[in-house]
Amino acid sequence: MAQCVVAVDGPSGSGKSTVSRRLAQALDACYLDTGAMYRAATWAVLLAEVDLADQESIFKVVIDTEIIIGIDPAQQAVEVNGTAVNAEIRGPQVTAAVSAVSAVPMVRQLLVSRQREIIASAQRIVVEGRDIGMVVAPHADLKVYLTASVDERARRRSSETDADHAATAQDLARRDHLDSTRATDPLRKAPDALVIDSTQMDIDEVVATLRELLNN
Ligand code: DC
Repeated sequence: MAQCVVAVDGPSGSGKSTVSRRLAQALDACYLDTGAMYRAATWAVLLAEVDLADQESIFKVVIDTEIIIGIDPAQQAVEVNGTAVNAEIRGPQVTAAVSAVSAVPMVRQLLVSRQREIIASAQRIVVEGRDIGMVVAPHADLKVYLTASVDERARRRSSETDADHAATAQDLARRDHLDSTRATDPLRKAPDALVIDSTQMDIDEVVATLRELLNN
């Protein structure tokens, strides 16, 4: 059977994670959350108390860190040097620092090569991130660019976290800007990606649209 890779890119809060996980479950496929790998690397960098402006030291920490990421869409398991960090990597400190760590070109090179190995080992896999269609898996069978208005994305995030809507919108806009203007592999829509604006759609509709496209 031929391999099937689905790439899902888009900004923070666009519904990528939920859509990708649900789609993987429906397809009986694996699921790779590349953002969790950058978050895990950031957790290790924060623990090492490295200056976030010092890219060389950031890379040294990341290359010496063992990051294990599970690919089961039913339960996400992330380990850093043997410690489970599933909850910790979603915390505010990691969220505030992850754009700095993921902007380091050597860190990206390292994590992209690990991502490619994981993808190569899977028969069917849904991969979510920012640079999947453009860099990590340019030959993916289906590329999706999922987006939604900043206001709607902030509404979804603040309902998950009880955080203030205006502060969440501001933080999303800050991360969108950093992620799409960094020099190496910025958030970009691949020319052959299908754009889905989920502002007015619910998750089930998005998943159903993608399943139709995959004839599944
Ligand atoms: O999807 P997320 O919010 O968990 O991603 C966390 C950060 O990691 C995000 O600010 C951008 C970065 N990231 C990246 O640079 N490239 C990826 N493929 C995935 C995430």
